[in-house]
Amino acid sequence: MMQIADVLSSDMEGKDVEIRGWVHRERGSNRLKFIVLRDSSGHVQCVFSRDDFEEKWDEIDHLQVETSMIIKGTARKDSRAPTGYEVKVKEYTIVGKSENFPITKDQSIEFLADNRHLWLRSTKMTAILKIRSTVFGAIHEYFRSEGFYEYQSPIFQAVQCEGGSELFQVDYFGRKDVFLAQTWQLYAEPAIFALEKIYTIAPSFRAERSKTSRHLTEYWHAEMEVAWADFESIQNYGESCIKHILRRVLEKNSAELKVLGRDASKLEPAVNKPFVRMTYTDALRILKDKCGMEIEWGKDLRTIEEEKLSTLYDVPIICTRYPKKVKAFYMMEDPQNKDVVLGCDFLAPEGYGEIIGGSQREHDISKIKERLVEQGEDPSQYEFYLDTRRYGSVPHGGFGLGVERVVRWICGLDTIKDAIPFPRTIERYKP
Ligand code: 4AD
Ligand code: MG
Repeated sequence: MMQIADVLSSDMEGKDVEIRGWVHRERGSNRLKFIVLRDSSGHVQCVFSRDDFEEKWDEIDHLQVETSMIIKGTARKDSRAPTGYEVKVKEYTIVGKSENFPITKDQSIEFLADNRHLWLRSTKMTAILKIRSTVFGAIHEYFRSEGFYEYQSPIFQAVQCEGGSELFQVDYFGRKDVFLAQTWQLYAEPAIFALEKIYTIAPSFRAERSKTSRHLTEYWHAEMEVAWADFESIQNYGESCIKHILRRVLEKNSAELKVLGRDASKLEPAVNKPFVRMTYTDALRILKDKCGMEIEWGKDLRTIEEEKLSTLYDVPIICTRYPKKVKAFYMMEDPQNKDVVLGCDFLAPEGYGEIIGGSQREHDISKIKERLVEQGEDPSQYEFYLDTRRYGSVPHGGFGLGVERVVRWICGLDTIKDAIPFPRTIERYKP
């Protein structure tokens, strides 16, 4: 048995091949039947001639899209075949019949979402899923090569970290103070005292009520935390992690990018050039000077502003030193300026928005408590976390990368929903 890609890539002219897969397309005449067979590696046209299969012609004539089958035949070059090669069928076995496959051309987005389990087989989704796999692999590869341990936080948590309004409450044996993880962070910081450099890729949950092209309620979150780190090194890790992901995708997935109509040269600057680093205050000035957008100092950047800013550069922007009021309680106050924190957002080019959020962590317990209270939290619930600052605290920091955000940018997708197999949003949790 070989894969379809092997039929296409090596010189198989005149050789016998055996392949298996699913009928991607079918058409026929009275004498000939053409099917395009698909497996995970590619597509190849297979031709049945009535002269060879007179008794079975009725079955062959009725072969339906998505039938699974094994085909033995001879490979031959054919410039008219969509992939340059075709297989002249000598023998075949039907493994699983297919009923009328519901997905045909030009279906609505809603219909495809209802049939997501079947739509995954499409050429588009297959390409995205392959790139997604490369991205996950590259993240593991990057952190492990940098000496990080893989570490896991609980998903049931009794604290909030990124804002109470976006928490999913769980009915935990009747208790109501349990939530799904928004981030691993508060349970990761305690572990740097054991492992120093840690990372994870895990689901995070946000009760995101708005319909946007960049928010899911369940997404995969690649997070890292490092002991002894300063603010700049956190940014450096983020930049080289993204460069590594892009490098791997460009190496392994040029065919998939092509399927998606994604111009790979748009991604190359981010591999080859340093990211643009600027402070929030710089960003406001640039938005004013170059885009005519005036934003009052202290307001968070909105999607539209991030979009405008990111289209000015062909590499991601690392925007730092945001106003303290708009950022999470754990971010360290800038020793140079009490009004801002040492937090950084990475904004992808072409308007794809925030892909990483990170920071240096505040180590002053009283400041953390103060800010928790300001945000309406009860600091006593955070005692376990505050202990990280009581027993041998060290400078540290970390970031979280939204994997679907990165996949969306790399693939050039209109919506983040296509960056994950079964997207969950406020409107959809089925199939
Ligand atoms: O900026 P966020 O909220 O930061 C944190 O959760 C930190 N605790 C991370 C850390 O320092 N360990 O989220 C991090 C990233 C965002 O930059 C974005 O890429 C992604 O997670 N993200 C989402 N992705 C998809 N759907 C959503 N609703 C997302 N919310 C955040
Ligand atoms: Mg953020």
